[in-house]
Amino acid sequence: MDKFVINGGNRLVGEVEISGAKNAAVAIIPATILAEGPCRIENLPNISDVSISFDILREMGATVKTINKNTVEIDTTHVSNPVVPYEMAKHMRASYYFLGALLGRFKRASVAMPGGCDFGVRPIDQHLKGFKSLGAEYSIDYGMIDVTADQLIGSQVYFDVVSVGATINVLLAAVRAKGLTIIENAAKEPHIVDLANFLNSMGAEIMGAGTDVIKIRGVDHLRSTSYSIIPDQIEAGTYMVMAAATKGDVLVKNVIPKHLESITAKLEKMGVEVTEYDDSVRVVSNGKLQKTSVKTLPHPGFPTDMQPQITTLLTLAEGTSIVTEGVWDNRFKYVDELRRMGADISVDGKVAVIEGCGSLTAAPVRATDLRAGAAMVIAALAAQGTTEIEDIYHIERGYEEIVNKLRSLGADIKKISIPGTVLKKAL
Ligand code: EPZ
Repeated sequence: MDKFVINGGNRLVGEVEISGAKNAAVAIIPATILAEGPCRIENLPNISDVSISFDILREMGATVKTINKNTVEIDTTHVSNPVVPYEMAKHMRASYYFLGALLGRFKRASVAMPGGCDFGVRPIDQHLKGFKSLGAEYSIDYGMIDVTADQLIGSQVYFDVVSVGATINVLLAAVRAKGLTIIENAAKEPHIVDLANFLNSMGAEIMGAGTDVIKIRGVDHLRSTSYSIIPDQIEAGTYMVMAAATKGDVLVKNVIPKHLESITAKLEKMGVEVTEYDDSVRVVSNGKLQKTSVKTLPHPGFPTDMQPQITTLLTLAEGTSIVTEGVWDNRFKYVDELRRMGADISVDGKVAVIEGCGSLTAAPVRATDLRAGAAMVIAALAAQGTTEIEDIYHIERGYEEIVNKLRSLGADIKKISIPGTVLKKAL
């Protein structure tokens, strides 16, 4: 099994280029099913969640032509079987976006219940409620979700909870429904806006993406397009925290600073200097970190996908900090791993109390999920000594070339592949 071996204590200094957004990519790739003709997608992150999405498309009969490391041309013209089997869906939560896209094009879809990071119960009731409002019927049998409709009819969809996935799935189906769909209490994350921009570039009529009311006027045809994905907000935030954790000075390039505001605000509160430029941010830390409180919320609040990283940073601050998880029921499982590195954190349900001790010590740890894995890397970079991180396939689902990027900033990190072991797939 592959591991990262990190000798901590080096200051990160220099420039790092942020890749395209994972959570936009995993929605835009299924959305190509709706196009009548090939789509060129640029600025795709070269990560395993993207390659799994390509595998699913190919399995259904699409062609995916690599133009370069971050650009592909996808032609879904010959997709005829709207089925995503368990063997493929189990690797990735976002495989459920094929439901909305296939329903939009074929008026039927059959997708296995998805895998993904384990944060407790991850229901899909709001997705199904949305499809039902558009006139579809659904059933779940032996782990397969089947959705069918004679016709999709535009409708009013009110979400009981703000859900990124449900907003995206209803968008994907509603662009091909007859008439007007209005989504209320929609999610507002940057990747929702990116998907809407992508669909609009194909001829869809989506208004209001990025607000909590999205209006979609269904169209009969969606054409091929060429599109470049936005930079990854969470990858950028992770490198910002890495700079702060290592008394670093890092220019984080190819970002949209507006998307980083909630992260920037917390870092500044902790005493880290953040300077915004047009498409980059510079993060400078003198190592003296102050305590603060963080509550994760849907966008534009502090992102839950940055919660493990900021919690780790707070272990390096002086004083008692409180982190409240406002999105997921069970996203503090990684805390046990941080404790092995000397962190003093107590968790009660969705609240973690961190007694900052100013330092961490090296230990063997595991990545328990994608962002928890990023948190282990941050802890290891800051700790004195050599930390080995196992189960790094989680990290590689979402961080393109993390070893090379960190090395170019001065980190002492290597990936060790142990020959003869079977690579675990990301779940
Ligand atoms: C997306 O997951 C992201 N994944 C997650 O990022 C992220 O943590 C999450 O949004 C919140 O920002 C992708 O974009 C692929 P939700 P998603 O539906 O869509 C409840 C990462 O690290 N809910 O917005 O699955 C749910 O239980 C990943 O990159 C329902 O109750 O999240 C949760 O409490 C991990 N019913 C809340 O809503 C539903 O039908 C938000 O979930 C759907 C969700």
